[in-house]
Order: sequence, then C-alpha cells, then structure tokens
Amino acid sequence: LIAKIPIKLNVNGHDYVVEVRPHWTLNHVLRNEMGLKGTKQSCGTGECGACTVVFNGKAVCSCIFPVMKADCGKIVTIEGLSSGGKLHPLQEAFVEHGAFQCGFCTPGVIMKAKAFLDGNPAPTELDVKEALVGNICRCTGLVKPIKAVLAAAEKMSKKE
Ligand code: FES
Ligand code: FES
Repeated sequence: LIAKIPIKLNVNGHDYVVEVRPHWTLNHVLRNEMGLKGTKQSCGTGECGACTVVFNGKAVCSCIFPVMKADCGKIVTIEGLSSGGKLHPLQEAFVEHGAFQCGFCTPGVIMKAKAFLDGNPAPTELDVKEALVGNICRCTGLVKPIKAVLAAAEKMSKKE
C-alpha cells in the first residue's frame, strides 16, 4: 500500500489534518475518512454532478478531484450550508418547491447553485439552466430545482 500523507483541509469552516493516500479523490476523503455522506457519488467520472462540493469558492466534481490538489483548501459541503439550526435559503426553497424526489442528486445541485448564486445573485432562468447543465436529475428533469434556485435568489436578495 502507498503510504498515507497528512494534508490540511478546511471543511465547513473547521480545520483538519487528514491522512490520505495520494491517489484518493476528495469525494473518497469526505465520505469515507470524514464521514460526510451528504456528498454523493454516482458516475464517478465527472458527468453527473451528484458529487459537487464548493472548493475555494468554485463548484467542483469531488469524484474526479484529486485530494492532493485540495491541500490547504477551503471546502464547503451540503453539511456546511445550514447555520445555527437554520436551513440555507436554497435548502428552504428546495423544500418549499418540492424540488427533489429521491434526493440523490440534491446535495450536488444545491452546492452547484450555491457557488453560482455567490457569483450571480440576480440570475435569469436561462442563467440558472446554464449553471445546472452538468447536474443530472433523473427524477425531476431539473424543472423544479431551477424554480427553487430562482426563488432562493429572490429570498436572498430580500435579506440583504
Ligand atoms: S459522481 Fe461525480 S460527476 Fe458523477
Ligand atoms: S431527485 Fe432523484 S435524481 Fe434528482
């Protein structure tokens, strides 16, 4: 076995030193070494977006993201979105709009939307469609998730 190497990760606002094997992906480390099972893995090849997390402010597919590349980086997963027991506006909007069925794609869709709205707080419907193009939802065809992202943007703009 290849020896483990310690790397530093800031995950959901907390600093960790994690022992990793250099060929592991970020998805493997989050799910299997850190117990953050909210981030899913489906295709494992960067095609479906189920594994999306926010890395240094950008949405990335954690299933193909080498963990060594994440050293000293800042990662936000679905577990890091709510604060003080309160859901993030995106999570609230997904519940209010019935924007998931099986829920398998949902953490990835929400994290993609989070990074997107951070950079574009007042998107059009087309902007949202384009932003979610790499996320596959076999249950909803993304119709309701797109509505939920637009509703969340509106909610967030009223808060500011
Ligand atoms: S599981 Fe990563 S893109 Fe599909
Ligand atoms: S809610 Fe089932 S795949 Fe999206």
